[in-house]
Amino acid sequence: MSVELNDKVALVVGGSSGIGRGAALALAAAGARVVVAARREAESREVVGEIEARGGEAMFVRVDVTIHGQVEALVATTVERWGRLDCAVNSAGINEDMVPITDADDALFDRMMAVNCKGTFLCMKHELRQMLRQGGGGSVVNLSSTMGHVAAPAGSIYTATKHAIEGLTKSAALSHAKQGIRVNAVAPTAVAGTPLIDYGMKHYPELMAPYIADIPAGRPARVDEVARVIVWLCSDEASFVNGHSLVIDGGQLSK
Ligand SMILES: NC(=O)c1ccc[n+]([C@@H]2O[C@H](COP(=O)([O-])OP(=O)(O)OC[C@H]3O[C@@H](n4cnc5c(N)ncnc54)[C@H](OP(=O)(O)O)[C@@H]3O)[C@@H](O)[C@H]2O)c1
Repeated sequence: MSVELNDKVALVVGGSSGIGRGAALALAAAGARVVVAARREAESREVVGEIEARGGEAMFVRVDVTIHGQVEALVATTVERWGRLDCAVNSAGINEDMVPITDADDALFDRMMAVNCKGTFLCMKHELRQMLRQGGGGSVVNLSSTMGHVAAPAGSIYTATKHAIEGLTKSAALSHAKQGIRVNAVAPTAVAGTPLIDYGMKHYPELMAPYIADIPAGRPARVDEVARVIVWLCSDEASFVNGHSLVIDGGQLSK
């Protein structure tokens, strides 16, 4: 089986670091032209530079996913440059919530809902509108988490945002299946070396260490292990996979 995305246009929202960065590099390696979208310009341009250095095509578009007009403009800029949108990966997300619900902060609730949940919603809305305008076809991959399937006792807000992403994924998959558009999610456990997990390890080592020790594989996932699944879901190799949330957890949720 070879996964190839030659002539495809891919958008990676949250492509400046971590899983999004890995997905952008992997999509480009499979032949796609890639839009790297996020707020941090220097980091995003580094990803674009890496893709170009390997002979690929990429561009940076600045976006804050909480701002509707910016998300709409992001998709429009993608289409102005390359004429279409075939694959979209929605990886923008934050997690600063590692306390029980009784101590959770309501301002943090609003911020995490705005980025993780509303941001994913706005991205999907405009990505799917573009895929429909093109006459159908296309693949959207959202970043859920094992916390979209089960709950973290210290992390009610993050758990809620990821369950919401699972719902958005399934609903959109049903809405547009007849137009040949597939909408799926990936649901990783802890992924090593990303700013998001580094934040947790730095501020809440007493929670993160046992969580990682609980993974049957004996280690966290690597970014490339998540990125390869995303590329596969974007490709025609996954042509009948729709509305699915693919857990990438080294066996953790089978316990
Ligand atoms: N790492 C893990 O263990 C893990 C496990 C399961 C699921 N996930 C999920 O995977 C996704 C990526 O996380 P990661 O681990 O790769 O962490 P990360 O490196 O911190 O990635 C988060 C990305 O989101 C972008 N972002 C944050 N706020 C944004 C905003 N308002 N507008 C636009 N972009 C924004 C960041 O870019 P800018 O700061 O440049 O805007 C960055 O590119 C998240 O949805 C996360 O919940 C991660």
